[in-house]
Amino acid sequence: MSTPHNTAQNGEIAKTVLMPGDPLRAKYIAETYLENPTQFNTVRNMFGYTGTYKGVEVSVMGSGMGMPSIGIYSYELYKSYGVENIIRIGSAGAYTDKLNLYDLVLADSAWSESTFAFVQSGVEGNVQLPSESLNEKMEAAAKRINKPLMTARIHSSDVFYHEDNVPNHNDFYNEHGCVCVEMESYALFHNAKVLGKHAACILTISDSLVTHAVTTAEERQSSFNNMMEVALEAAIS
Ligand code: ADE
Repeated sequence: MSTPHNTAQNGEIAKTVLMPGDPLRAKYIAETYLENPTQFNTVRNMFGYTGTYKGVEVSVMGSGMGMPSIGIYSYELYKSYGVENIIRIGSAGAYTDKLNLYDLVLADSAWSESTFAFVQSGVEGNVQLPSESLNEKMEAAAKRINKPLMTARIHSSDVFYHEDNVPNHNDFYNEHGCVCVEMESYALFHNAKVLGKHAACILTISDSLVTHAVTTAEERQSSFNNMMEVALEAAIS
């Protein structure tokens, strides 16, 4: 069994999949954290691996950037491979000075102006929600391994580069309560909902639209490790 974008065979993907945007980060997680990882996908270099973490089977696969991309991969994982839980692990730009570089944010909702949910299934509205039970596991895992987490609404945007004549970070923060921006969760949460599955999203702040601070590649790696450890602990709980 395979899909147009994934050559994994039945049984090669775990019930829980961690999804970073970058497939090379999926490779890093597999090689750093998983015992006996085996690669199940290389189509379009969207690498996917399955191994065990503390003895429990877990998979990790890249999602690519943006809602069309995570929309495809997450739908196929849920629908064709029987995946039950997808935990997005990503980066985000801060919309408030209450968030510093490297802080961790757990999405309690994703606000978006995207048409993804409407086009996918006729669902209207700007907000999609993660799984409550998976979020509870994420919060409990963060507490257990002592990683501070802000739980808040995030913005899922279709656009990375904007001109000056459109709403900016202040508008999204003040009018919609979004503390940071990424580009995937609204679609992921929607797919999980229509398919009766679970999704969550944890983010590391990699840049600030308020202060214009940005992380260096080296600093990013160690702070991303915190996020990966929370997600892995939640995946096996
Ligand atoms: N992911 C990380 N930083 C981002 C930003 N500034 N905008 C959108 N997605 C992001």
